Amino acid sequence: MLQAKNLNLRFGRTVALDRVDIEIEAGEIVAVMGPSGSGKSTLLHLLAGILRPDQGEIYFDGRQVHSLPDATRSRLRLTSFGFVLQFGDLVPELTLRENVELPLRLLNVRRSEARRQAASLLRQLDALEFADRRPGQVSGGQAQRVAVARALVHRPAVVFADEPTGALDSVNGELVLDALTGLARQQGSTVVVVTHEARVAAYADRTVLMRDGRLVG
Ligand SMILES: Nc1ncnc2c1ncn2[C@@H]1O[C@H](COP(=O)(O)OP(=O)(O)OP(=O)(O)O)[C@@H](O)[C@H]1O
Ligand SMILES: [Mg+2]
Repeated sequence: MLQAKNLNLRFGRTVALDRVDIEIEAGEIVAVMGPSGSGKSTLLHLLAGILRPDQGEIYFDGRQVHSLPDATRSRLRLTSFGFVLQFGDLVPELTLRENVELPLRLLNVRRSEARRQAASLLRQLDALEFADRRPGQVSGGQAQRVAVARALVHRPAVVFADEPTGALDSVNGELVLDALTGLARQQGSTVVVVTHEARVAAYADRTVLMRDGRLVG
């Protein structure tokens, strides 16, 4: 469902990605590991259509992503992708509940329906009791669980997570990984998760390793 062929990208003289090929099946959970600077985030951004490669091809569901116009790629991200970043990129002015409703509202789901779906997901993640607070009024682990709910609430085909547990202690990190992979499996969403967390291997179907811009296994 997600396929990249011969991806190459440089930033000035830095080779961020060097001839990367990867194929990811629908519903698969893939962990991307490797040292700092090895190209993990760059790969994620290319697969998600945020960056364009200098060379190479990216396909999602048989469509060539990298050649789509910006507006079409934005639309694709909204309808088909979900994102979890290291520092819960939740909207600080909105309550946690409103943050989870947001993707649905942007997709024109009725307010009452968005509210129902968001609450159901927040309940599953044990986050309903603090859902009416704002992101700044809960712990980092609680905020990241809500970021997981927001990434999955519109049942995206693919969830891209870039070090979702990077700012958490191991207990909270595990809760967030549990939530992410558990919900994704339940919904049949594909997951590409960048992490330094060795334990992620227990949650993933496959772990790929990057080094110096190359996929090495
Ligand atoms: N916008 C940018 N401008 C210049 N160089 C960049 C930019 N983004 C990434 N790079 C460089 O590209 C290489 C790959 O970066 P990338 O962010 O993909 O690494 P990473 O594996 O995600 O590292 P980390 O684990 O530290 O997040 C690095 O050498 C980095 O310095
Ligand atoms: Mg990174």
